[in-house]
Amino acid sequence: MIIIVDFGSQTTHLISRRLREISVDTKIVEPEEFFKETKDIKYEGIIFSGGPTSVYEDGAPTIDAKVFEVEKPILGICYGEQIIAHVLDGNVKPGKKKEYGPATLTILKESPLLSLSPATDHLPTEIAVWMNHGDELARIPTGFETIGITETIPYAVIADERRKIYGVQFHPEVVHTQFGLQILKNFASICGLDPKDQPISEEFVNKQIHDIKDSVGDAHVIGALSGGVDSSIACLMVHKAIGDQFTAIYIDSGLMRSGETEELKKVFKDNYHMNVKIIDAEDIFLKNLRDVTDPETKRKIIGKTFIDVLEEEAKKLDATFLVQGTIYPDVIESAGTKHAKNIKSHHNVGGLPEEMNVMLLEPIRNFYKDEVRAIGKILGLPKEITHRHPFPGPGLAIRTIGEVTKDKLEILRRADRIVQEEIHKSGIGDSLWQVFAIYTGIKTTGVRGDDRAYGDMIAIRAVESLDVMSAGFAKLPWELLEKISVRIVTEVTEVNRVVYDITNKPPGTIEWE
Ligand code: XMP
Repeated sequence: MIIIVDFGSQTTHLISRRLREISVDTKIVEPEEFFKETKDIKYEGIIFSGGPTSVYEDGAPTIDAKVFEVEKPILGICYGEQIIAHVLDGNVKPGKKKEYGPATLTILKESPLLSLSPATDHLPTEIAVWMNHGDELARIPTGFETIGITETIPYAVIADERRKIYGVQFHPEVVHTQFGLQILKNFASICGLDPKDQPISEEFVNKQIHDIKDSVGDAHVIGALSGGVDSSIACLMVHKAIGDQFTAIYIDSGLMRSGETEELKKVFKDNYHMNVKIIDAEDIFLKNLRDVTDPETKRKIIGKTFIDVLEEEAKKLDATFLVQGTIYPDVIESAGTKHAKNIKSHHNVGGLPEEMNVMLLEPIRNFYKDEVRAIGKILGLPKEITHRHPFPGPGLAIRTIGEVTKDKLEILRRADRIVQEEIHKSGIGDSLWQVFAIYTGIKTTGVRGDDRAYGDMIAIRAVESLDVMSAGFAKLPWELLEKISVRIVTEVTEVNRVVYDITNKPPGTIEWE
């Protein structure tokens, strides 16, 4: 086992998930609780996670220097590297440049941390790494040496090989870091563990289903089915576990994409014989969203309206449990752990009102999207479902900048349909995490025929990602973008300009709101 000390990074749980992939157990602890939480367990190494604060800020999380006396290998990631320097006799300062996204790491010296398996081979001298930091090391502690640099950071990887303490400024847990998993495997080997690849298996999924059956007993369960990958797979796991004891509720909020409700009916009711109850709630959602422009307020209102509608259904069906397709990145982005900062309130994490008399059942809460897809595949779901692009709970409302109205939604739906059709035809969809249109709320001047036109601007966002914590904008072929643009301005006459979003995450989130 490796202990992960959580300094509040968005990617703390991702470290744990990566270690799970290589058969290493983890336990995540708060820095203040380290000694209490670890005193009775056997573990082989410690990882300090990243974190959103500066080590020198008042109240920034830190750790007792005694942690360096337990004589276990330590790997500090980002803030974790800075904590090593700060707590020992190094120094941390604000960086000249804040770095978000890709950088090139130059490896200066051989180290077991930076080797390839078998351990005799070494990584290439230059590898692409993913950065997300404002501070950097100004001086390394006694006993350490620098083994990697980037163009802007002189201490991108530091090591005290004798004590087996390492610090990396970049994030090896993020898929955009080349050899990231290899570096974590190397650290596990340094700890004396034997890391082996272990993908999600049928046995694992059957155990999860069995656990659902056990925890539910004879109770009636309802589930919020949105048609997206997460809720579909969560609901299907429960359907497999308890069959007719389960009713899926699909709330048509009026914020869905074109044709979605019909498709969902076909797949789940007709193919899978799942009990699905479809509720038309467009009016109430649009009424509650009237005059609202602030993204967080929108999210909260939508979350609350979903819950109100569901609550009514739960009462009618006398349900004891409510299934939600919450996955791990939703939890972390809603600041579900102590030192994390809230990025966005995901509508399925905000929690249920105290008085709502149901218990939450979240079968995929601990998994990332690619793991959820692997579960779906094992459940025999067709690729059209397991590889559907994710669609956010608050739907088109967070892709409609400014006040959400029926008219704007309709324009967005028509533009988005064209995007989806063209992407489908091109066959490029599978390589993308998501692709969609945004109603930007900006009007610009154009010309149609001989007339001045003042019309809407639609943006297109297409991203590639594996784990959602980081994403790169997709370099779509110009011809494809042109086809989409021409079709939108021709077929959706309210629109006279189409732009393409070329921002990576971080710093840009995938959704615009
Ligand atoms: P961001 O915009 O935070 O999105 O980079 C990350 C992923 O999450 C989806 N998303 C949501 N999913 N409820 C959801 O179920 C939400 O409130 C929500 N907000 C964003 C987004 O589409 C992307 O895949």
